[in-house]
Amino acid sequence: MEMNSPVGSNALDTEGVVGKPLDRVDGPLKVTGGARYAYEVQQQNALYGFVVEASIGKGTIRSLDTRAAENTPGVVLVLTHRNAPTQGTGNHREAHPVLTGPQVTYYGQPVAFVVAESFEQARAAAYLVDVKYDRSSGKYALRQNLDQARVPHPDDAPAADSAVGDFAGAFAGAPVQVDVTYTTPLQSHAMMEPHATLAMWDGDRLILHTANQMLNQGQKVIATTLKIPVENIRLISPFIGGGFGGKLWVNADAILAAIASRQLKQPVKTALTRQQIFHVTTHRSDTIQRVRLGTDRDGRMLAIGHDVFSGNLPSEQTYEGAALQTRTLYAGANRLTRHRLAPLDIPVASSMRAPGESVGLMALECAMDELAEKLNLDPIELRLRNEPSEDPEQHIPYSSRHLVACMQEGARLFGWDKRNAKPGQVRDGRWLVGMGMAAATRGNPLRPSSASVRLNPDGTATVQMAMTDIGTGTYTILAQITAEMLGLPTDRVRVELGDTNFPEAAGSGGSWGAGSSGSALFEACESLREKLAQQAGMDVKTARFADGRIASGERSIKLTDLVDTGIEADGEIGPGRNNKEFSQQSYGAHFAEVGVDADTGELRLRRMLGVFTAGRVLNAKTARSQAIGGMVFGVGAALHEAMTLDPRFGYFVNRDLAEYLVPVHADIPAIDAIFLPELDQQSNPLKSKGIGELGICGAGASLANAIYNACGARVRDFPVTLDKLL
Ligand code: MOS
Repeated sequence: MEMNSPVGSNALDTEGVVGKPLDRVDGPLKVTGGARYAYEVQQQNALYGFVVEASIGKGTIRSLDTRAAENTPGVVLVLTHRNAPTQGTGNHREAHPVLTGPQVTYYGQPVAFVVAESFEQARAAAYLVDVKYDRSSGKYALRQNLDQARVPHPDDAPAADSAVGDFAGAFAGAPVQVDVTYTTPLQSHAMMEPHATLAMWDGDRLILHTANQMLNQGQKVIATTLKIPVENIRLISPFIGGGFGGKLWVNADAILAAIASRQLKQPVKTALTRQQIFHVTTHRSDTIQRVRLGTDRDGRMLAIGHDVFSGNLPSEQTYEGAALQTRTLYAGANRLTRHRLAPLDIPVASSMRAPGESVGLMALECAMDELAEKLNLDPIELRLRNEPSEDPEQHIPYSSRHLVACMQEGARLFGWDKRNAKPGQVRDGRWLVGMGMAAATRGNPLRPSSASVRLNPDGTATVQMAMTDIGTGTYTILAQITAEMLGLPTDRVRVELGDTNFPEAAGSGGSWGAGSSGSALFEACESLREKLAQQAGMDVKTARFADGRIASGERSIKLTDLVDTGIEADGEIGPGRNNKEFSQQSYGAHFAEVGVDADTGELRLRRMLGVFTAGRVLNAKTARSQAIGGMVFGVGAALHEAMTLDPRFGYFVNRDLAEYLVPVHADIPAIDAIFLPELDQQSNPLKSKGIGELGICGAGASLANAIYNACGARVRDFPVTLDKLL
């Protein structure tokens, strides 16, 4: 597909509503409970399913006694591998078969699904399913299985390795070297809304109300799994209570509910419990990352290398791409990046917010801080000296890159000049105080998407697409684009998302959501403007759309006078030449100030600032919220978040939000995010770039660097907890 044209109309280059800090158009629905999430959809006759999880990490089911469960009042079905249908297979991005046989390949794998007339009956009966296992030995801990690691070959991700020049020779000969290994832990998405599905069949057509980020992808996974045509599957997901990647693909809730509903010829509803989410759905792999940086005495990069180990089930190819940003962020003629994947018998590892960069920058940007200290250079000055003039591996231009401006503006606003480069010098009562910074970068992908827009006889517009809004503000920015392009007030625009009956869209993921869906809608609005201009006998190039009217020269016509039963137009977008000819990333710089208790090692974030450039900002308020949300995610990655694996049995020990720690309000004091003006002439017709994941990228590293500056402890094993400071 060669569709991404940077030459659009200049419809958005006026002082319109796009970019304004419009409140979320779906806000009132959310705060009044009017927004229905998957589990809240009321369906007559719905039955309730509850998942029974395997309680071993690897082995086989020796016996499975369901009689007690079946004899429980209200129970109508206990689904196990004995009565489940044969399903299609593939990796987790292709299929999600459940209850396929007696083999257990990871702890928490569903081994039964109990369906009853009420949730309580199903749950009570689920605990009566008696499963006995033959355990076999499994490989659970990444660190203990590095010798098994192989080169992964995912078909939807960059190659695992890259090499330019002579890394080994250049590094060995570099006068100044840093060679450090950083580790990041297993992480869980910990979104608010648990995974939930209501499944029902209409003949051979399946309807799923389900929490899912990418509905059209979900359709395909379900089609492969259940061996039914894609067009017989409808996914409905208008509201999603957070995903962070945990709802990108299809999880067991959807498939179990669909199978049970088909067998029972009745709607079946299910939700994973908070505890179940940790094992039954995906997580982010832990990583072991070796970063090697070699420079001349002035800090100019001669060699840059990044080796990454992550883990996944033997059947999976998805790796944590933590070295990907190292291919493009800094200059240097000799480069080497490698990813290795260790086969592990634990649940599927997959994408979690900014897969790759979010943990990759924790290693690279801390290593850069170590290098700056060795060179006796300010960390910003080191980065300025290694600012590339083109993508250093692909040798193509950047579509736009203003990392330097982000660092300089951030330094000015944050008061970076007050930082004492020597650790442990600044005190505030019992607190040792330090400042740190880190660069932010995240790729800007564009994914095929389409949209329809219709001008109704009453002068309102209706937008439809199978896009999702996972709490990011998609409804709002799509209303803004439509309102501005058609010259309507935003409250005259109705945006309908989250239904595969609407035009196909890329969904929410990988920071491509707004750019892809917004550009498809832009094209649809362009097409509608042309139709309206033609109807009015005007040239669309000179026509102005404002106040519900189209005007050209002296003539001005109400749009409603041009509409009989309604006029509709479609638009689509997809990656094109400029996605290959330009290296596309969003950029930013994080600044953090922390306090470390001089006696106890207790840690506090004191203030934090992120300064970003991401092309056109579509809504100043939702963009800022996205950035701040990402930064808070970064604070969690630096200080709190870690799943603890029991290496003997292969299960995650801390599987609830009391023990899997994420930041709370009290952990986040003064925090701000600003976007510097930028238009990207190559990215897409909106001239925007992705922001959904940018905020987390580098955020954690800025805290770790601040901790070092505060107290002189360089912790290379995340999260930085106080025991590691003593
Ligand atoms: Mo994101 S990890 O692609 O939801």
